[in-house]
Amino acid sequence: MDLIVVKLGGSLITKKRGLLEEKHDTIHSIAREFRNMKDKFKFILVHGGGSFGHPIAKKYNLNKGFKEYDQLIGVSKTRYYMSFLNQKILKIFFEEGVSLIPIHASSIFVTEDGKITSSYLDSIKSFLSINIIPIIFGDVVADRVKGFSILSGDQIVSYMALNFKAREAIFGTDVKGIYTSNPKTDANARLIRKIYYKNLPKEISIRNNLGSDVTGEMENKVKEILYMAERGISVKIGNLSIPGMLHKILYNLHGEYTIITPYPTKTIIM
Ligand code: IPE
Repeated sequence: MDLIVVKLGGSLITKKRGLLEEKHDTIHSIAREFRNMKDKFKFILVHGGGSFGHPIAKKYNLNKGFKEYDQLIGVSKTRYYMSFLNQKILKIFFEEGVSLIPIHASSIFVTEDGKITSSYLDSIKSFLSINIIPIIFGDVVADRVKGFSILSGDQIVSYMALNFKAREAIFGTDVKGIYTSNPKTDANARLIRKIYYKNLPKEISIRNNLGSDVTGEMENKVKEILYMAERGISVKIGNLSIPGMLHKILYNLHGEYTIITPYPTKTIIM
C-alpha cells in the first residue's frame, strides 16, 4: 500500500482571527475524506498551528531559540495550545470513524539550529504496520545549538516522506495551489496545474498561514518542497476544505490543485 504524507496547514484548520478557533466543519469534512481513503493508502498526518501556534511563538520570540527564562512560559503555552488543537482534531476524526495516534514531535526529534538531526521513528513504523494513522504537529523541540527551536510541520513532512519513502507529500491549504504570480495583487495570476520542480517560478505564491506573508516562512516551505522533489518525491498542494479534493489529488484526477514533479514534465497552467 502506498504511503502518503499529508499536512493540514494552519490556515486550513484554524481561523486566523478569533481566539483559538478551529475550523470545525472543515476538519469534519477532511476526516470524512480520510474515512473513505484509509483502507486504500497508508497515511502519516502532520498539522500546523495557525492561530493556535504562531501568535504565541511570536510573542515569546521562540524562533530565536532560548535567550531568557521568561520565554519558557511561552514554550509551555505553545505546547498547551498546539496539543489543544491536536485533541480537537483527534476527536473530530474519531467521531468520523478514523483512528489517529498523536506522536509528539519533541519526543521523537532533536534539531541542530532548527534542522532535524536525530529522530526515533520505531513507534511510527509500528503504528503504520497496524494501519492506525500517526499524527504529528509542528511544535517546540529540543535543539542542540539553540536550546529549543520551533520545528515546522513542513520540515516534519519532508523528513517523514523521505524516511518512509512516501509516494508523495500533500500540502493541504485553503487556497488552490501555486500560482504564476501573486493572485492577491495580480489579476492575471493563474493556477499552475503541473510543473517540474526545476521550473517553479522564482516568486512562488501560496498564501501562508494567517494570511500574513512572512517571507521566511514561505521560503522555508519552498525549501522543503524542493528538498523532497530533488529526492524523487512528488509534492501536491491543494485546497482540502473542498469536499472530494483529497480523493482527486490522491488519484491524480482532473481538478484545481498543483502537482510538482520530481521528473521533467510539460508545465500545465489553468
Ligand atoms: C507551527 O507549525 C508550529 C508552531 C508555531 C508551534 P507550522 O509552521 O507547520 O504551522 P502552519 O501550518 O504554518 O500554521
